[in-house]
This record gives sequence, C-alpha cells and structure tokens, in this order.
Amino acid sequence: MGLKFEDVLIESLPYIRDFSESVMVIKVGGNAMMGPEAAANLMEEIIQDIVLLHFVGIKTVVVHGGGPEINEKMEKMGKQPKFIGGLRVTDDDTLEIATMVLVGNINTKMVSLINRFGGKGVGLNGVDANLIMAKKKKSQKIVVDGNEEDVDIGWVGETEIINPKILKIMIEDGYIPVISPVATDKKGHMLNINADTVAGDVAAALGAKKLIMMTDISGVLRDVKDKTSRISKIELSEIDGFIDDKIITGGMIPKIRGAEVAVKSGVEGVHIINGSSPHSLLLELFTDIGVGTMIYKKDENEKEAEE
Ligand SMILES: Nc1ncnc2c1ncn2[C@@H]1O[C@H](COP(=O)(O)OP(=O)(O)OP(=O)(O)O)[C@@H](O)[C@H]1O
Ligand SMILES: [Mg+2]
Repeated sequence: MGLKFEDVLIESLPYIRDFSESVMVIKVGGNAMMGPEAAANLMEEIIQDIVLLHFVGIKTVVVHGGGPEINEKMEKMGKQPKFIGGLRVTDDDTLEIATMVLVGNINTKMVSLINRFGGKGVGLNGVDANLIMAKKKKSQKIVVDGNEEDVDIGWVGETEIINPKILKIMIEDGYIPVISPVATDKKGHMLNINADTVAGDVAAALGAKKLIMMTDISGVLRDVKDKTSRISKIELSEIDGFIDDKIITGGMIPKIRGAEVAVKSGVEGVHIINGSSPHSLLLELFTDIGVGTMIYKKDENEKEAEE
C-alpha cells in the first residue's frame, strides 16, 4: 500500500496536537532493549524515538528495567536467577548485581544516548531527592505440593511514597529523566523494585497522560506461545481473572498491576507494546494503528448502558 511520507506526517498531526505539553511515562523493558531477540542497535532506536517525543513537546519520563543483563551477570557468578510471581528473588549478592547493572550500566548508557541524539538526559534512581520511599515486600505465597507456603523474596521493595517534585522540575526545564528501579527503605537499605511497579507509580504520581510499557512481546497474549492471540483491550475488572486463570503469568503480572495502578489513578492510556519491533512507540502514539494491549477503565456511562 505504502503511505507517502507527507500523508504519514499529516496523519500524526491530531496526535501531536493533543500530546504536546503533556506528560508521558515510557517504561523500557530490559528484554525490549537487549533480550536474546533484540537487534544490536535496538536501544539506540528506542532512545531516538523517545528524544523525538521530547522534541514534539511531550514531557517524557523514562523508567527502565534490566532483566536479561542482571540474569547474565548472575549466571557468570554462578547464581541461578529465581522469580516468584514475576518478582526477582533478591539476596545480598543479587541486590548488588542488580544495582550495578541498572544504575551503573544501563541507566548511564541510556542517558548518554539521549544526549547523543540532542536531548538532555538525567539519570536518577529512587534514592535521588527521595523520589521513591520504599519498604521491603512481605513474603509471597506459593503453592508447593498443593500446600500454600510463605517465602521471603529478599530485598524486593514496594513503593510507599513517591515524591515527584524532582521529576516535575526537570521536565519543566526540558530535561529527560531516566529512572533506575532501585530505592531504599527507611533505614537506608537498598531495595530492588520491579521496573513496571515503579513506572505505574511514577505515572500515577505525575498524573501522566499516558504510560507506555515497552516489552519483548506484542502485548498481553491469551496464549503466550501464540503470537496471533493478542488481547487488544483489557478492562480493569478483567485483570484479576486473567491472573487467576494463569493467562497472565511471570513478568506480565507486575506489568499489568503497574498498569492497573496508573489507570486507577486517572492515567488516560496505558499501553503494553513490543519494543523490539522497530519504532513501535511512534506507531502507537502517532498513528491510528493500535499495536499492543491497552488497559482501560470503563466509564460509568458505559457501565450503565450495559446494565
Ligand atoms: N499473557 C501473557 N502475554 C504476554 N506475555 C506474557 C504473558 N504471561 C507472561 N508473559 C511473559 O511476560 C514477559 C514480559 O515481562 P518481562 O518482565 O520478562 O519483560 P520486561 O518487563 O519488558 O523487562 P524487564 O523486567 O527487564 O523490565 C513476556 O516475555 C512473557 O514471557
Ligand atoms: Mg519485567
């Protein structure tokens, strides 16, 4: 079919007009940037798109993960990565590796790329200006041989308070904040927080217009093995059922929960998209094509109409 360049630009006009000056949180998954399937220059492409959003007037806040690289470093040290309910079991060594990879390596790389494309990136983590005050997550319930057991998942945090002021100052002044998902508890102990949890909480605290979660899969699939089974829209009331029925498992659990927090707080659009597919971010935001899964809240009128 082949749309002409000028047609594509014109198609994007209403979106650019609506989004200009609005706040968007973009969560870039570790898998999207550097999973086994990811192209070598994928991180560059994603950052280039993010810088483009900035220059069309969108106040962009980035949150990143780092799953595959943390796994790789753990395996090099002879440690086997373990997840419960999609959360990484984090002992002392794992915490150190995760912090090094996230803050030291990935964050710095992303900020440097933003700068290379002409933006002004600033690296942050939850500790900076008390951005995220966290507490250690309670033990998680798992089922072993039919019996429920409580397991401590280690230094995994959950957000208690977000202080978004530092982010507001930065985006008002034209900086692009890039957040690593680590924080401390009240006593100053480091905690590893799932990046999707942070993204949902930050989007909520900023009253963002949109939260885009870029991952390594084309959205929520009814059957993870079947690429054609994408669910294009999920209403808040469906989430628990999808988790109970084990349609949503692993890393998709904290992702959908992060999305849920954002939608409940009034974020208009939360989209889970495939970051490893080229320029999926631009397609989702600036064209009529919906490329992933949208999480939304039915409004009261719709509910009444159905009853
Ligand atoms: N119903 C589902 N649909 C799609 N993916 C699912 C589903 N259930 C589980 N998943 C898994 O969730 C994964 C995405 O979450 P994952 O935590 O691995 O990536 P990420 O959050 O993008 O990266 P990071 O954790 O590094 O930030 C998919 O690769 C898939 O294996
Ligand atoms: Mg994840």
